[in-house]
Amino acid sequence: MLGSIVLTIGCLFGLASATPRPNPDSYARELYQFPNETFIENVAVLSDGRLLLNTFDDGQIFILDPSSPEPEPHALVKIPGINQLTGIAQVKHNVFAVSGGVAGADYIFVNGSALIATVDLNHVGGSAVVEIVAKIPNTMMLNGMVALPHAPHIVLSADSINGRIFRTNTMTGDVDIAFRHDLIGPGPDPQIVPLGANGLEIYNGYLYFTNSNLQFFARVSISLQGYASGEIEEIYRLPPGQFNAFDDFSMTHQGTAYIGSQRDSLVMITPDGHLKTLLGPESQVKLLSPTSVALTKDEKTAYVVTGGLNGLGGQVVQVRLGCV
Ligand SMILES: *[C@@H]1O[C@H](CO)[C@@H](O)[C@H](O)[C@H]1NC(C)=O
Ligand SMILES: *[C@@H]1O[C@H](CO)[C@@H](O)[C@H](O)[C@H]1NC(C)=O
Repeated sequence: MLGSIVLTIGCLFGLASATPRPNPDSYARELYQFPNETFIENVAVLSDGRLLLNTFDDGQIFILDPSSPEPEPHALVKIPGINQLTGIAQVKHNVFAVSGGVAGADYIFVNGSALIATVDLNHVGGSAVVEIVAKIPNTMMLNGMVALPHAPHIVLSADSINGRIFRTNTMTGDVDIAFRHDLIGPGPDPQIVPLGANGLEIYNGYLYFTNSNLQFFARVSISLQGYASGEIEEIYRLPPGQFNAFDDFSMTHQGTAYIGSQRDSLVMITPDGHLKTLLGPESQVKLLSPTSVALTKDEKTAYVVTGGLNGLGGQVVQVRLGCV
């Protein structure tokens, strides 16, 4: 009993609440919101706990320390030649690959502008060193990105428009297509964002992905080199008549996925395909277009980032998963 009271209090943010039972938002807290229309598209956790934020703010990557009493983003580096950053994946200790392009209409890159860069944070003095490692000529989108567990210098990227998974070697710059499938591309529903595969993660030999327009979460077995070696298996599909669209996500070592669900929710999907909403339109902390989720190394905390909405800027929200 005492243990559970202590746990409850430990899950409350800020001053102790007057209500004895945990309120549904006691586990979520907004750490920061941009004062302008900066759209945060993705997030990664550094080994020291700080966060890298990929934005549509002229290709800027910001860095934010969530442990600071008043967390504030600092502009870390701008990727030259592009203005939208999408995927992010760690390829080496303190080295991250990012993808992006020049904004076209409707979340689509200008054809031929897509590229992958590495951002190396191992340099003394804290400066980030950027290298453009590959240009991908014939695509209008590189969305979520994941590094291969057995060859992390190789990353997979989702082409949400043309239904392909690109495979890029960040050391040599070689790019090929790991596989293509209609279920990687968007469906025909005009009421939902026209993007297919969005977030990517690899767990236990499977590539997991969300498909925004087709509104499902699925997996496909892949080889150690990242090529598809089986059929796509759907794990969860939103019921008909719901207009949510799954965006980027993160998975725990138990195979549970935490997914940003457009336009207002954070959901979890268990390995057996059950969905639970952790934050939604009724929550005290309102998510304004949640775009991605990253977990801390201990998997006790999730950071949700958002794109902002109706003139309000993107947010960084901390969620204590042990308390949900
Ligand atoms: C938006 O706000 C951030 C944080 O204050 C700032 O660094 C960035 O330059 C701003 N962007 C624009 C386009 O003004
Ligand atoms: C995109 O550019 C490539 C050349 O890099 C061209 O072959 C392709 O047809 C273009 N696609 C579209 C849809 O314009």
